[in-house]
Amino acid sequence: MQIAIDGPAGAGKSTIAKKLAAVYGMTYLDTGAMYRCIAHCVLNQGDNFDDTDDIIRLAKEAEISFEGDRVFCNNKEVTKEIRTPLVSRHTSDVARIKEVRELLVIQQRKFAKDHSVVMDGRDIGSVVLPEADFKFFLDADVLERARRRKKELEERGIVKNLENLKNEIQQRDDNDRNRTEGPLVKVKDAIVIDTTGKSIKEVCDIMRSYIDGVKA
Ligand code: DC
Repeated sequence: MQIAIDGPAGAGKSTIAKKLAAVYGMTYLDTGAMYRCIAHCVLNQGDNFDDTDDIIRLAKEAEISFEGDRVFCNNKEVTKEIRTPLVSRHTSDVARIKEVRELLVIQQRKFAKDHSVVMDGRDIGSVVLPEADFKFFLDADVLERARRRKKELEERGIVKNLENLKNEIQQRDDNDRNRTEGPLVKVKDAIVIDTTGKSIKEVCDIMRSYIDGVKA
């Protein structure tokens, strides 16, 4: 089975994807982590986001793997490093490069061939798994997404101003929606769920009602 979950940053995709994967005994693939790994490689090797050829070279060389919640890139654990605000900011610089997307999409499709997957990202229903059994699009009010992000960062000891976070999220949304390659889109056959004001359990229950064949 394949479940595709798309939506903007902070809509709750990864938390919910992990829960669904656990419920249905499926494997979760965090495609955002893969783009983050490439941005992290660039930051480690010269920090030049204008050199597209070099970014493509780094993406070709990058060996990304997962062990549960842990993320590895080129045999080094990068679970925490790829979640910093700096990496978040630069990930859209690598995610807009056609060749980078093509390389990662091939790996994501291969993963879906070998596993029953819940995959989350921006282009899963549109590009990576257009034939997925279920396609969900999770959205939420931008202020609520900023609040969630603030809480998540604080849990990791990073304090950020809410207004700045909201602006950063809006900027990332714009970058993700307006790029030519694999933009964030709501595909026609996606089930759209607004997660504003809903708990994780409520959102999961709605999704499960679709998956289990009972209309919400
Ligand atoms: O889901 P996330 O916040 O970890 O995603 C990080 C960045 O990667 C974000 O700017 C969008 C981009 N991304 C993408 O372009 N395509 C995907 N399938 C997943 C993430």
